[in-house]
Amino acid sequence: MMPVFTANRRKFLLAGGGAAVAAASLPTIIGRKQGSPSIAHMTAEPGRLKVFADQQQNTEIWGYNRSVAGPEIRLRLGETVRLLFENKISQPTSIHWHGLRIPFAMDGVGSITQPGIQPGDSFYYDFTPPDAGLFWYHPHMNSEEQIARGMFGALIVEENEPPAVDREIIWSLYDWGLDADYQVPKKQAFHLWRGNADYTPHTKITMNGKDTPDILISRGERIRLRIANTSGNRRYALQFNDHKPWVIALDSNAVEPYPVGDKPLIIGTGERVDLVLDGAAKPGTYPVIDVFNRDFEPVPPWATPEEIAARNTPITVCNIVYRDGPALREVHELPPPTAPAGNHIPEPDLPNAIPVDIELNQHMTSIEDVPKIGAMAALLAEQDGIPRDHKVALWTMNSKVLLEDLNSYFCIDPEPLFECQLGRTYLLRFKNATKVDHPMHLHGHTFKMVRRNGIPFPRSMYRDTFTVFGGDTVEVAFVADNPGDWMIHCHRGMHQHGGMMSLFRVI
Ligand code: C2O
Ligand code: CU
Repeated sequence: MMPVFTANRRKFLLAGGGAAVAAASLPTIIGRKQGSPSIAHMTAEPGRLKVFADQQQNTEIWGYNRSVAGPEIRLRLGETVRLLFENKISQPTSIHWHGLRIPFAMDGVGSITQPGIQPGDSFYYDFTPPDAGLFWYHPHMNSEEQIARGMFGALIVEENEPPAVDREIIWSLYDWGLDADYQVPKKQAFHLWRGNADYTPHTKITMNGKDTPDILISRGERIRLRIANTSGNRRYALQFNDHKPWVIALDSNAVEPYPVGDKPLIIGTGERVDLVLDGAAKPGTYPVIDVFNRDFEPVPPWATPEEIAARNTPITVCNIVYRDGPALREVHELPPPTAPAGNHIPEPDLPNAIPVDIELNQHMTSIEDVPKIGAMAALLAEQDGIPRDHKVALWTMNSKVLLEDLNSYFCIDPEPLFECQLGRTYLLRFKNATKVDHPMHLHGHTFKMVRRNGIPFPRSMYRDTFTVFGGDTVEVAFVADNPGDWMIHCHRGMHQHGGMMSLFRVI
């Protein structure tokens, strides 16, 4: 039988190897060969842009190199990131490289792995990613506010053996929540009590910083769609309707390709999914729809009819638009999709794994009773006109909270939730005792998905973030092979900074 890839016209060839990249029109920072002295520069600084296609005034943002999304950082496996970062915003920050198993000193958690980078100061990041795939970067100090103002970007480590596709596209999904003047709400909105209130008259999902863009595709074209949820709080459930994509990688790790099927594709905050999507529909325009809030978010008792109506309205995140002109190839000539080569994640020793139970919970507290930061929180609440007896949600792991100082954004009394012996396998059992989902993330390690509600996952999956839905128990296992004090937290900003963050110590 003739292999499809030897079709006789060149345009019929699906490119493996150094596939041409036509991602965003964003400036790109390329990785450096080992030994190369050149250093990339990046800032975090204020800028302005129009988030909504039809808004009049500009939104004041903070962006990496003043752009939203930040520059795409792209390198080959084995290359090094050398990046001099300068903080030009008005509060301390740091850059965390989400999903990268790099040494502790480069992990970019302000006040834990490095001092906070103060306004006007710089920090030199220098690391070689051990894995290939789609990663992202974001602040790890007061990150709910800093991400909400526009600080995030994609980082791609190209595989030595990428799957055969015609083209690769990156979708960075991001949620804006703007006030009546189209501004990110003032600082106080990001303190503890924020989780209770929907403060955003203007909400918007952007893709690569753009409001509902058209994604052009040719009939017969095979695209690698690399989707990153780079949002502050939002989770997505994407419906592709007339398209039938396949999942080929989760976070940055290959999976045996499987079709998305008829259920929406869930992408929790911080998660990434690589798809193969073929231009196999009739020429036309096809919206890609988000239904997370409609189908997966429990309705709180205080929701107004307007809020319920809003959440039941699916949101178009982009439109897949077919180009005019001849098909690139016949759709039936497309072979089954292939996955990229996998990363070398140490295999957990499940029979000898040490179990760690982590209960995810919520406690309602008055602002002034918030442990450790009560007085300051109450003061800020007062300035904001929030009553002293106002109850706020504290989000907990095993009843513990990690909060940050409201001025310096340093973590207050960080104590490990659990300790690990270097080289041993740990089985984390997340029991979600709340009604809402928590996309749980570990730093410095990649884990294997083991069981959900006692049932083994249907396929082998390695991830760094996984959404634990309300009432579920999810077990994941990893080899503690990277020494340090690593963060473990929910990636929804209001939960993370409302207490659901801790660290685990590997020694
Ligand atoms: Cu995306 Cu603690 O990180
Ligand atoms: Cu959460």
